[in-house]
Amino acid sequence: RDEPKLKQPVKVLVTGAAGQIGYAIVSMIARGLMLGPDQPVVLHMLDIPRMADALNGVRMELVDAALPLLRGVVVTTDEAEAFQGVNFAVLIGGWPRKEGMERKDLIAKNVAIYKSQASALQQHAAPNCKVLVVANPANTNALMLKEFAPAVPARNITCLTRLDHNRALGQIAEKLGVHVGDVRNAVVWGNHSSTQFPDASHATARTEHGEKPVRELVADEKWLREEFVGTVQQRGAAVIKARKQSSSLSAASAACDHMRDWILGTPKGMWVSMGVYSDGSYGVPEGIFYSFPVTCEKGEWSIVQGLQVDDFARSKMELSANELDEERSMAYEFVST
Ligand code: LMR
Repeated sequence: RDEPKLKQPVKVLVTGAAGQIGYAIVSMIARGLMLGPDQPVVLHMLDIPRMADALNGVRMELVDAALPLLRGVVVTTDEAEAFQGVNFAVLIGGWPRKEGMERKDLIAKNVAIYKSQASALQQHAAPNCKVLVVANPANTNALMLKEFAPAVPARNITCLTRLDHNRALGQIAEKLGVHVGDVRNAVVWGNHSSTQFPDASHATARTEHGEKPVRELVADEKWLREEFVGTVQQRGAAVIKARKQSSSLSAASAACDHMRDWILGTPKGMWVSMGVYSDGSYGVPEGIFYSFPVTCEKGEWSIVQGLQVDDFARSKMELSANELDEERSMAYEFVST
């Protein structure tokens, strides 16, 4: 077989690299699943000092995997070194929710982390570095990055709702008994939390009779409004209950999908969901990171315009926007104290 002609290497930062999602994603990145099979990478892996040994173990495994696209590995517990010259940053590290912790406590802990990462990003990353925030609360962590890295264009900061988007496609495919690759254009609106609104009303599925609206194929409005929405909203919690750990391989896979589509472009006729800084589209207030349907071309995302939003959808979308507004207020409270 022919080997692809390789591009110049780029630097990709993964924070929380010794954690479960980090462990899953670094090999995906080094195998070209995020940036393409012709894109060599230098991996920068950051974790907290307590994880230094584990991080070094991951580095050893990457050497042992003999990955031809992997042109170097930087393993560090120092933020400045981690962000040095990186072209892409996947921020998975954060304070995990522990038993008995309220959302407010989680926000307080993560505001401090993301404030500090924002300055490292602004000072040390390559110009035009593209950032994906995975760590929860992802939308609000992204907002803190934007707030404290004012020199970084807001459009270079995004958060992960592709996991929810992929979950939505998976549920529709199972319901219809079709391949997931034949389902497209679901939308996840809002927060990466249980107030998100997974919306199948614009989705289509390829069948032997051609491309059809999912709404028509399912023909069960109650399933679409209740069971589908609830299952996708609660899927993260259901995985935690089953695995006693949060989603890892699906989160890593979704993060690769997010970056790949952002950098290399979305396929023709297809959109994906991304958490981006709201520009007021669909009446969503500005000043929050909100998940919208987007298409991407030449490394730039744009919100898909003109989708019909009925009253049911509107009320769900507002609920999630209100939650994000509350999260923002809480975050600013902690910033100023
Ligand atoms: C997920 O969607 O799987 C996670 O964000 C859930 C969580 O709270 O860690």
